[in-house]
Parts: sequence; C-alpha cells; structure tokens
Amino acid sequence: MNSDVRQLTNHELLRSACLIGGEWVVGRGEDWIEVLNPSTGGTITTVPRLGALEAEQAIEHAVTAGKKWSRVPATERSALLRRWFELVRAHEEDLAILLTLEQGKPLAEARAEIRYAASYIEWFAEEGPRCYGDVIPSADPHTRQIVIRQPVGVCAAITPWNFPSGMVTRKVAPALAAGCSIIVKPAEQTPLSALALAFLAERAGIPAGVLQVITGPSRAIGAVLTSSQDVRKLSFTGSTEVGRLLAAQCAPSLKKLSLELGGNAPFIVFKDADLERALDGVMQSKFRNAGQTCVCTNRILVQREIHDEFASLLAARVQDLRVGDGFSDGVEQGPLIDKAAHDRVQSLVDDAVAHGASVLCGGEPHSASPLCYSPTVLAQVSSGARIARDEIFGPVAALYAFSDEREAIELANSTEYGLAGYVYTRSLARAWRVSEALECGMIGINAGLISSASVPFGGIKQSGYGREGSRYGLDDYTELKYLCMSALDSEL
Ligand code: SIN
Repeated sequence: MNSDVRQLTNHELLRSACLIGGEWVVGRGEDWIEVLNPSTGGTITTVPRLGALEAEQAIEHAVTAGKKWSRVPATERSALLRRWFELVRAHEEDLAILLTLEQGKPLAEARAEIRYAASYIEWFAEEGPRCYGDVIPSADPHTRQIVIRQPVGVCAAITPWNFPSGMVTRKVAPALAAGCSIIVKPAEQTPLSALALAFLAERAGIPAGVLQVITGPSRAIGAVLTSSQDVRKLSFTGSTEVGRLLAAQCAPSLKKLSLELGGNAPFIVFKDADLERALDGVMQSKFRNAGQTCVCTNRILVQREIHDEFASLLAARVQDLRVGDGFSDGVEQGPLIDKAAHDRVQSLVDDAVAHGASVLCGGEPHSASPLCYSPTVLAQVSSGARIARDEIFGPVAALYAFSDEREAIELANSTEYGLAGYVYTRSLARAWRVSEALECGMIGINAGLISSASVPFGGIKQSGYGREGSRYGLDDYTELKYLCMSALDSEL
C-alpha cells in the first residue's frame, strides 16, 4: 500500500472498483489502470479498465433507475442530496488526502476543493425544489398556456483531472436534483475522488443506478455514451479538441450538451488599478492548482506605463512560491499532472523566449520532483508567440504591454476562446465598458477568484456552451414542456 494512503481515517473511501447498478464491480478483473501519485511517481492503487460492455450495462441501469428517480418528489431528492453533502463535509480530510495523492495539488488547496465540491451538492439540494415553470397569458380566454420543466433523462458526465471532485459534483448534483440519473466517467489520471464521492452518495441513500461511476479508456466508454439514444445529455469538461469530437459523436442522437472547454483568459491591468490588488488577483487566478485551471489567467495585459514595475513586483512574489509534494508543510504549488503536460509548458516557454520574451523568474523545470515546474514570469511577450494563443495550463505568467483601452480590448478578444476574463481598474465606467466588450462568459472585475456554486460557470466561442452552477445550471438538466389547456369554456 502506498504510504500516504495510510493517512486515511476511513480506508473504505479508497475504492478499487466501479459503481454500476448499485454493485461495486471490477469487470473480469483482468485489466487494471494504475493510479499514480504525480509527486512521487509511485502507484497509489489500481482501478478497473472497463469498456463498452460495462458502459452499456450502466446505461441500462440508468434508464431503469432514472425513471423511478424522476418520480421521487423534489423535496425527497433534496433531502438525500443534503445527506450526501453532509457526508462529504464529514469526510473532508480523507477526500482531500485522496485528491492530493492522485492530482498533486497542495493539501490546503485540496481541502478547499472538497468544500467547493460539497457546496455544489448543497446548492442544488436547495435549488431542486425550486425548479419552477411558467404560466403564459393566452390570447384566447378559454385557453391556458403552461410551461413545466422535466428531467432530461439519462445523463453522462466526462470529468477532468484538474478538479477531480469539484467537476464531479458540479455535474452530478444538478442532474440528481433535477431528477436525472447520471453516469460519470472520470479522467484516467484521477478516478479515486469520483469513486469516493460515489461511495458516499451510496451511503447517503442515493438509489442504485442513479449515480454510477465507470473507469476505463475514454475512447471506448465515450463512444458508447455518446452514441446511445438512451443517454439524453452529455456534460464534458476538457479540451476544445475533445469537446468538438464529442459534439460530433453526439450529433446523430441529438443529445443535449454542456461543454466547458479550453480558455485563454486575458487579465487586463490598467494604469489606474490598485496594483497590490491586481497582484493578488494574478497570484490567485494564475497559480492556483499550478496554473491548471480552465479559468486561469493566460495573458496578463498591462498598460505600457506600468508594465515593467508590475512585472518586477509580480516576479518578486512568484519566485517566493514554495514548490513540492502537496503533503509537505507550506507547499503552495505541486507538480504538473504528467510528463506530457510538463514538456508542453517547457516548449511554450522556449518558444516565447525565442520570440523575444525575457524570463524574470523560473523558465525551467523545478528540482523538487520530475513533474514540478518552476513558477515563471515572462515579460514583454510577443503576441506572435505560441503562448499567446495556446492554453498554458502551467505556472507561467506571460505579460504583454498595451497602450490604451481600445488596444487592450482588441488584444483580449484576439483569441478563439471565450471562457474567463479579468479587468483591474479604479474607474467604474471603464470597468463596465471593458466588461461589456470582452468576449467571455465570465468576467472578474478587480477579482481573481470568481467561481462559486451560486454563479453560472461557462464560456462562449470555442470555450463551449452551457452553464454549470447557479439556477441556470439546473435548467441545463431539464427540458421545457409546454401544456396548452383549452376548452375552458365548456364543462367536461
Ligand atoms: C476548471 O478549471 O474548469 C474549473 C475551475 C473553477 O471551477 O474555478
């Protein structure tokens, strides 16, 4: 057993089987995926490598269980979700340990993610019973027009490795609250958090088949989930490239889709901004999770007059970040998820330098462990460098200079992505103007940390569509049904 696993208080949370139809299964027990600790490279445990057959079985269970679940009153579903929320909070420390083990983020960040994950369950437990319809006035006095919301049906969720708990509950909680059943396929690198959450959901009394988790190769399982006529909705968080592929695979069965895809967030600092606040914002929005979040600042656009001062103040903070194993005291940045991610970040830095960027700190692998990358600040980056177009997904802050508001907006919008954007200014008028002009689904105004269960998370352009969290996030798991009630003039 991996030594860090011994820190767990409740060893039942470490699952090496999948939850399908209310049973913990391993398939034929012949094929396994090794789950690695990115900090040490060691194996934590194995989970089954299931495939098309088990995915089909899960869909059958989801259809049967989903029909019953949709008829459970929303208040009862809410009570079960609340129980699940309480169990997640009660097991916060163990869930955080599992998260740090498989994902690498510092334990303090993992604890915050578990609270964040739990907040989605709590939010949707409360929001489910408020899934209102509408009455639309009719031109005909003998007719009433009513709109009701009904669960979309069987859902599938393909979740990423960067937030292995938060992205599961952000999809599962609204699905369950709305009366849908859901099958989760977690990322191969981080299945343990999803399995532990499913274990607690089962303990909370969520009925068999309503929430299922299947581990295995994305291609085989994804092909079944996307092609099935019985699966009525797919929610995916991941790259734009894979999102496009899934959308194409879902097209023949005309599934409802929520796609939370890549980003290239601009972070605009005007010369009238509170610089200390802007620096705090960059630290939060760039270096959280070692820069591996979809809403991470990707391009820091700084007004020319303050560019050099801002760059050196930022470098002073960044070079103090403590890097290492997420379990070590005081560590603020863990490893990247795998070697491919590490090599990609290095190649983006090399390309930026080749295009004239100056390295104020970092710019190279970190000695703490093979997957750690040094927190990096690059100044005077050229907009022709690859790092200006590609999602960095690593701890590299790239600064660009701009002259005026018009140029800032033009630069900020010169990307195919449109997830998050950030604006720092003391001018209320400018904050409004720039926020309205930015082509993004979410804007932080003098704020670097913008996510919460109560707000709609999602993007536009090639960052996808659909919203998660908030009352809008519940809508995404429902269908509208219009009832036309006529002949109210005659007694039936
Ligand atoms: C993400 O990276 O997709 C999620 C980040 C967040 O919820 O803030």
